Amino acid sequence: MLTVQDLRLRYRTEQGEVEAVRGLSLNVTHGEFYTLLGPSGCGKTTTLRCIAGLETPDAGLIQIDQTVVYSSASRTLVPPHRRNTGMVFQSYAIWPHMSVYENVAFPLQHGARKYARAAVRDKVMHALELVQLAELAERPAPMLSGGQQQRVALARAVASEPSLLLLDEPLSNLDARLREDMRHEIKALVQRLAITTIYVTHDQLEALSMSDRLALINEGRIVQEGAPRDVYLHPADAFAANFLGRTNLLDAQVVGPDLVETRWGRLTCSLPGTLALGAQVTVGFRPESAELADTGDGLVGTVVSTTFVGEAQEYQVDLGGQTVRVKAAPFRTRAEGERVVLRIPAERCHVV
Ligand SMILES: Nc1ncnc2c1ncn2[C@@H]1O[C@H](COP(=O)(O)OP(=O)(O)OP(=O)(O)O)[C@@H](O)[C@H]1O
Ligand SMILES: [Mg+2]
Repeated sequence: MLTVQDLRLRYRTEQGEVEAVRGLSLNVTHGEFYTLLGPSGCGKTTTLRCIAGLETPDAGLIQIDQTVVYSSASRTLVPPHRRNTGMVFQSYAIWPHMSVYENVAFPLQHGARKYARAAVRDKVMHALELVQLAELAERPAPMLSGGQQQRVALARAVASEPSLLLLDEPLSNLDARLREDMRHEIKALVQRLAITTIYVTHDQLEALSMSDRLALINEGRIVQEGAPRDVYLHPADAFAANFLGRTNLLDAQVVGPDLVETRWGRLTCSLPGTLALGAQVTVGFRPESAELADTGDGLVGTVVSTTFVGEAQEYQVDLGGQTVRVKAAPFRTRAEGERVVLRIPAERCHVV
């Protein structure tokens, strides 16, 4: 459905060049919800703008459905309004001098395909119904709450029934509660429309909860791609491990099949078969993957701090020279200074 191959773009500024996208490739299948996740400045918006045609790359290939819309090799460049994409911008760019209705109708009246008045009316009202704003169609756009403006932007992006929906941090201006509601709404909307969606965010919770697949981006490149669960549980490197949730990393040595030795004791760990005995490795486990016990096998440590966060109790545990984070069920709490044993089931401990 969408193919991007070896995309490159540099911005030329007075201070010099900025390599925003450095050889980025991805494939998105029809109907998929695919997320670009990464820290600020890693090139997410630039990538999205290249796909929409709002930015011209230096090199690479972009294909939407069966159409090559950009290719440096064949010097192809299809203008934005012929790419059949709908986009919601990072600042959602509602036109303030127009009503809700006019905002959604504008691209239909001025886009590649011109629709007759009645068809515009049908499409606009259908889109507004999808986002539950039909009653406010005549209201001036600035006289809406943040969440409602967000929905106008969404309605405007889907009104022309694009084959590809591009959403650039659409929830970043909303408060926490509304974000959560809108997360579910957006997901339900794109599922109902069965529309292929590229979603950009730097919020890991959004990426994990909404995506079929996500790509973790750092410095203009994809560093890891996969289903949220797989990427979260099997981070490819230290950047992935720390960006997607927090991960405890311990230096260790392979001492047996699925067995490593750390400075603080032995851990069973799912090891790749290619690792030789004696190999130096870094093993990682998530705060929520460890269980706290009083006795038994595991890494022995001392609780140095504890925080109640509602659904869990978080601990910093000092193993002796290294502190790890543990997130446990809040029913039994442990005090600062208490001695604990960390148990990490082998399948939750991985080589990074
Ligand atoms: N118009 C521009 N001119 C020069 N440099 C730019 C321009 N737009 C973006 N950049 C730079 O390109 C890099 C990528 O920017 P981009 O906007 O794609 O990042 P992003 O991942 O969307 O970040 P954020 O999460 O903050 O929105 C950054 O280093 C940024 O400073
Ligand atoms: Mg951005």
